[in-house]
Amino acid sequence: MEKTIEWIKEENCSRMVDQLVIPYEHKKVDIKTSSDMYDAIKTMIVRGAPAIGIAGAHGVCLAAIESKEKANFIEEVKRIADYINSSRPTAVNLAWAIKEQLEILEKNSSKTPDEIIELLIENAIKLENEDIEINKKIGDFGATIIPKGATIQTHCNAGALATVGYGTALGVVRSAFKNDPTIKVFADETRPRGQGARITTYELTRDGIDTTLITDGMGAYFMKKGMIDVVVVGADRIALNGDSANKIGTYMVAIAAKYHNIPFYIAAPKSTIDPSIKSGDEIVIELRNKEEVTIVNDKPICTDKVNVINPGFDVTPAELITGIITEYGIFKPSEIHKLFE
Ligand code: MRU
Repeated sequence: MEKTIEWIKEENCSRMVDQLVIPYEHKKVDIKTSSDMYDAIKTMIVRGAPAIGIAGAHGVCLAAIESKEKANFIEEVKRIADYINSSRPTAVNLAWAIKEQLEILEKNSSKTPDEIIELLIENAIKLENEDIEINKKIGDFGATIIPKGATIQTHCNAGALATVGYGTALGVVRSAFKNDPTIKVFADETRPRGQGARITTYELTRDGIDTTLITDGMGAYFMKKGMIDVVVVGADRIALNGDSANKIGTYMVAIAAKYHNIPFYIAAPKSTIDPSIKSGDEIVIELRNKEEVTIVNDKPICTDKVNVINPGFDVTPAELITGIITEYGIFKPSEIHKLFE
């Protein structure tokens, strides 16, 4: 399985699929400095909660390599790690993976910078490998809730490209497809960045999965017509009460699903659950620039006199979520806190 993001030992760099050029090109870029990693996350060369988590872990390795001659090595790596962490606020996986790396830094602070760098790289590669294994488990648990011949609606891209490989919501699709090649997917376009149109349809059609692209406003129409059997999406941060942040528009899909009695599932690893927050009200929503909304194919689509607001995510309340599919099994939102007890 291709790793969409991986540490390259020989080059001491992070190699990742450039998600900005999918589906026109499938090319990789090498990120060699911590400031380039900040930019890669911010501009969404790498995107998707688990993938930016790994990018953060690689960013700490780069920070350590850059700082190894500095007298205040430990402090300097922590400072750069904080900077990388500030690139995108909503997906908790970024903070989680950086914290894992900083724990290694702290625990081994008596060792030499070279020894610490070795340990950080080792841990980053471990996190990469674990990500794929976790996603396969999520996929296999999730496949059990997909009815035979079902049509699955998904939003954004929670696929191989949003992770190191296999995907979370699309991991569920992949595992279900192995047992039942008649399943179908309706992929929401996902304005403004088009992750559904550009990335989800690219991934699924490459795997030979029957995929239909719909615009973000069409879901309720197809639900009413009885053409959607189940919704499965990813998440960027899940609160202890099960409230789940995901790409803007997810909340609207969940409301429509509830109205039409269609099961709505979140698929996400334990690292996407933030045990420090009790409810979704505490989730910081990233505000992105207005040009993402107003410019399409390098041209404005509206007058420059109009106001624009561009939140990247919304929070789906737990009461709209049928279940949360994790690598430990499927939980009711009200039970998810048990993973931390
Ligand atoms: O802004 P993005 O493209 O990084 O947002 C991604 C999502 O909202 C995904 O659904 C989420 O990160 C889960 S990816 C497995």
